Amino acid sequence: MSSIYGAGGSGRRGEATAVMNPSEPERALRYVFGRGSAYEAEIGVSEALQVLTDEDELVHPDQRMFQVVHLITEYLWYTMHYELRRVMAALDRNERDEARVLLDRVVTMVDAQVGMLKLLLRHLTQQSLLVMRMNLPNDATGLDSPGGSNLRKLAVPLWRRFVSAVEREGTTVVALARLRLKAEVERTTLSPVEQELGDLYDSLHAFDQCVLEWRQLHVHLAWTQLGGSPGGAVDGEAPVVEREAKSLRGRPVSDLERIASKPLFPEQWGIPNLLFDEITAEPAGGER
Ligand code: HEM
Repeated sequence: MSSIYGAGGSGRRGEATAVMNPSEPERALRYVFGRGSAYEAEIGVSEALQVLTDEDELVHPDQRMFQVVHLITEYLWYTMHYELRRVMAALDRNERDEARVLLDRVVTMVDAQVGMLKLLLRHLTQQSLLVMRMNLPNDATGLDSPGGSNLRKLAVPLWRRFVSAVEREGTTVVALARLRLKAEVERTTLSPVEQELGDLYDSLHAFDQCVLEWRQLHVHLAWTQLGGSPGGAVDGEAPVVEREAKSLRGRPVSDLERIASKPLFPEQWGIPNLLFDEITAEPAGGER
């Protein structure tokens, strides 16, 4: 990052002290910042811009988009972690409605991350990625993403908090699901507590579904950039013998596919199986 006044320069308040593209000759096209305003101080935007690779050090013009997409996703992951800890605290206090509102906020954050992946899927060409990849160290791997690993870790205590919140009301998650189905079939109403727990159940499931959606799109991105999509034979080309697309650290892309189909709350995904079997089971005597 360059400062208009040189490293460590201090512009007067109101004057920009840093510029993203110092080699730009046209003054009006320079992206300047660091005016010492209350806005910049409050948001921390100057520091956030400083972490970006200098424009003249980018190995490819698309590296800017690539880096920013990763950073935004990581910021959102951290923020989701923050909000999910609030969800757990609200559950512990039996504030079910607050927990659901916060969970829904987290779901919208995952939607934003899905949008970030779509940006890469639609606008990052394989050529650009392969050029950037040549300059990445061999041990660079998304498995070291702090956001990804902290989120995976948090899923277990979050699910346990939900189970406890349900059990404190004298029921279980499976019994709650059965009760909701029964109420639907028999057109009866749930009590307010059952309704709140049911809404929470749906929000948790929506969260897990959205994370799976992100993971599936991420696999598509790997297929687009590295290869490895199943059935990828090309007419007129000699078959690629036993080639498996690999990540930088040499692991097959199929590893990622395995991770991508793992939900955060596997127990909850078992419940639709139970309910489907129960409602479609032949009643005694063969009558339906
Ligand atoms: C061109 C874009 C991308 C490609 C080709 C790609 C490829 C891969 C591959 C092959 C892996 C498997 C890990 C390994 O074997 O080393 C992986 C893992 C991972 N990547 Fe990416 N990735 C891309 C973009 C992103 C973005 C934008 C993020 C967001 C921060 C991200 C986050 C992760 C995470 C968290 C993992 C660990 C597995 C998981 O939690 O699902 N990746 N990536």
